[in-house]
Amino acid sequence: MLKTHGCGELRPAHIGQMVELAGWVHRRRDHGGLIFIDLRDRSGLVQVVGDPSRSAPAHTVLDEVRLEYVIQVRGLVRRRPAGAENPNLPTGEIEVEAHEVRILNPARPLPFSIDDDGRRIDEAVRLRYRYLDLRRARMQRNLMLRHQTTRAIRDYLDARGFVEVETPILIKSTPEGARDFIVPSRLHPGKFYALPQSPQQLKQLLMVAGLEKYYQIARCFRDEDLRGDRQPEFTQLDLEMSFVDREDILQVIEGLLMEVVQRVTPHKRFRAPFPRLTYAEAMARYGSDKPDLRFGMELVDLTDMFRESGFEMFRAAARSGGQVKALRAPGCAGYSRREIDELTTYVKSLGAKGLVTLAFTGDGVKGTVAKFLTEGEQAIIAERTGAGAGDLVCMVADAPETVAKALGGLRLLFRDRLRLADPDEFAFAWILEFPMFEWNEEEGRWEAMHHPFTSPMDEDLDRLETDPASVRAKSYDIVCNGYEIGGGSIRIHRRDVQERVFRLLGYTPEQARARFGHLLEAFEFGAPPHGGIALGLDRLVMLLADEPNIREVIAFPKTASAVDLLFDAPSEVDERQLRELHIRVVREDPG
Ligand code: AMO
Repeated sequence: MLKTHGCGELRPAHIGQMVELAGWVHRRRDHGGLIFIDLRDRSGLVQVVGDPSRSAPAHTVLDEVRLEYVIQVRGLVRRRPAGAENPNLPTGEIEVEAHEVRILNPARPLPFSIDDDGRRIDEAVRLRYRYLDLRRARMQRNLMLRHQTTRAIRDYLDARGFVEVETPILIKSTPEGARDFIVPSRLHPGKFYALPQSPQQLKQLLMVAGLEKYYQIARCFRDEDLRGDRQPEFTQLDLEMSFVDREDILQVIEGLLMEVVQRVTPHKRFRAPFPRLTYAEAMARYGSDKPDLRFGMELVDLTDMFRESGFEMFRAAARSGGQVKALRAPGCAGYSRREIDELTTYVKSLGAKGLVTLAFTGDGVKGTVAKFLTEGEQAIIAERTGAGAGDLVCMVADAPETVAKALGGLRLLFRDRLRLADPDEFAFAWILEFPMFEWNEEEGRWEAMHHPFTSPMDEDLDRLETDPASVRAKSYDIVCNGYEIGGGSIRIHRRDVQERVFRLLGYTPEQARARFGHLLEAFEFGAPPHGGIALGLDRLVMLLADEPNIREVIAFPKTASAVDLLFDAPSEVDERQLRELHIRVVREDPG
């Protein structure tokens, strides 16, 4: 090794020792003869002093070095002079008197400073020079935290008899609701592999294979619209077990998440056992299937009272299968016209036709529609929402999905504005009993809400063909602070049930056999009952690291338009490569 110690490891106990260090020049100050350098490596920073009266050659080299030069230093650890200590630095009581300095590699001036958290720097520049961006303390911490998380996961699962198995990346389309990335085959002209959207079918086949307890830190690929918590390739903790029911999976994951938090972020609080809500309950109370449960502000249903109201707009909604719901924003009665307009614009962006607000003040209820409501109605609204003087009640009347979306969104807006959520809390919760199917309006067909391998609830199975909308799935999501961090289900393990579900999803028997024949066949050879789950590892680490998006916890992420700015991918390939792959690129005329 070119070093005897890490820069950040040195302490007063090392005083008097000769040490060798190697790292990057983090800061440099010239103080009339003395040169001070903060030398950085992965372990932290230490101050190195170039003193011409101690070693003239070392001082000369230190005079030459610039930021981010890689240097090697041999020197004596000494106590800093009284008054020069830095209590903010773990190595702040000592410094290293340079005796020999060697430049291992110079560095060009950097495109940005390493010496801050990088939040103000254009992300495109950060990603273009990701290897420099990752030198930042914050990014090093994030990568370390990710490593600790996967280690804690592996330890936990290993102790419980799980086996880590790798599954292929070149495979066949695995429907998880996104578009596939496909890879052309050179050996088989006109044929393509698809990258797995998840190892779903493979892990089910591992259950048929008798593995009983499988997991994998698995890479998944989905060509879908990206957001802060989505990447085209991302990582799952993927897990499957045989001979289990729902409760077994929930217990394993609940224990795992508690252990991860305790090991990786022990200062965070969580509530155990994790609360459980049905999908219907979560939508009704929070307007979301991934509610942030760190704060209350529940949605209040007023539909029944408006069925007989003189307020025409709400009565019409309440009588035609819609809903009227409200939430109370504490202390917001004083909102200005402009602030109310902002809230209205926001709920409209979520699809609502409008927003009605009532300001509860010391002298009565104010708001443009207050005059259309009787005193009795105002009193009921106050009672149900708990509104008192100083509060603002926001109401939306619309189709149930729209009401949920609008008020669910507004609830999060108030969370951020009023700082209602404790940043040091993880509010994990299970969401259970999702509907099995969703109607795809555009394509006029049923879609699996989780995926087509999910088992319907036993008591709903006989309505599969007659009333698909009412069939609930044996699926579950784990949510935390407003994010879906995982989802899974008990699977179908019988061929006949799987075929019925495929049929309902619009596959002819031939299509089902062509796409999923391997799985259907496997179910005929003694498939055990099984179930599992996958956690979004990037999202989990993002929460553990207190980061606002998953790019901050992925070493080399892609941009929102799925571009790798460092490698400049995707990129064109040679004509020869295309020919070998039997591919011709035809560019559509944009006109
Ligand atoms: P699902 O599709 O719900 O389930 O995915 C599981 C979890 O993976 C994370 N996730 C993502 N993270 C980052 N970028 C993305 N594009 C992305 N898409 C999903 C989410 C999500 O909860 N095979 C099933 C699991 C199972 O049934 O066992 C599956 O993949 O946190």
